[in-house]
Amino acid sequence: MTDHWNAIRGHWQLLGPPLRPPAEAVETYERELNLSNAHVVLLGVTPELAGLGATMTAVDESSAMIAGIWPGDTALRKAINGHWLDLPIPNTSVDAVIGDGCLSALGLSTERKALFAAIAGVLRTDGRAGLRLFAGPETPDDPAEVRAFALSGGVSTFHELKWRVAMTATGDAPDHAIPVRTIAERFDALFPDREELSARTGWDLPVIGTIDVYRNSPAIYSFTPAPTLVSEAEAFFGDVRIASTGGYGLAERCPLLVLRAPRRRR
Ligand SMILES: C[S@@+](CC[C@H](N)C(=O)[O-])C[C@H]1O[C@@H](n2cnc3c(N)ncnc32)[C@H](O)[C@@H]1O
Repeated sequence: MTDHWNAIRGHWQLLGPPLRPPAEAVETYERELNLSNAHVVLLGVTPELAGLGATMTAVDESSAMIAGIWPGDTALRKAINGHWLDLPIPNTSVDAVIGDGCLSALGLSTERKALFAAIAGVLRTDGRAGLRLFAGPETPDDPAEVRAFALSGGVSTFHELKWRVAMTATGDAPDHAIPVRTIAERFDALFPDREELSARTGWDLPVIGTIDVYRNSPAIYSFTPAPTLVSEAEAFFGDVRIASTGGYGLAERCPLLVLRAPRRRR
């Protein structure tokens, strides 16, 4: 999995919403979780979220991502190497946990539940968490409709199109998973002529080329419907809700999953 993220780091500057959180999504974390005085754990090293909270520990398994995109440690903020399912953070020690797209980086429902358990374990009793979702529809989208929508100029960014293509081919419950290389194969089948796609949408060919890093990836993503994630989370939190993150392209499928009242395991 770290190889996959190392490859993505190479074109990080070409990425954009909805993969990277726009300002209105960053404001949603602050508004929903009241972070200004909080000790925050960030899952991953998403630079847009690095300024939130009073103090922050970011946890990422990829030292290349930490070196490549984390804005740098300060007296109040640091990034450490670690796995989210075995968080190198003491139990009941943090006010808030945040993360962007983390649940989609896990391909199995059992891994998602393990992440909810890990988050509940490190939060204080009054702690809260916010995870921006990449949530698929209950029924996969029709590929022909996605193609027509893109060619008519209805898709805001190439990155939104990547997610829409993935959401035509996501597997069944409980995992709702798709191998990342399958996203590239589906894209090639739907859009064999990249120059036509570029001409119709105005997207630069190097941006469209960011799909190519998916071709040899061993990673598996998941695009689980939001109601399923809410019910998975309710086993670990007494208070689970969904908050809109704004009006950018695909925002309706990228809400913030807000988790409060962590349940203590006996
Ligand atoms: C936060 S996620 C998603 C970021 C962004 N929103 C996107 O979709 O491209 C990406 C980061 O998570 C890290 N990551 C993925 N799975 C991880 C895991 N199980 N433990 C620790 N870090 C992980 C990767 O190394 C990468 O830096």
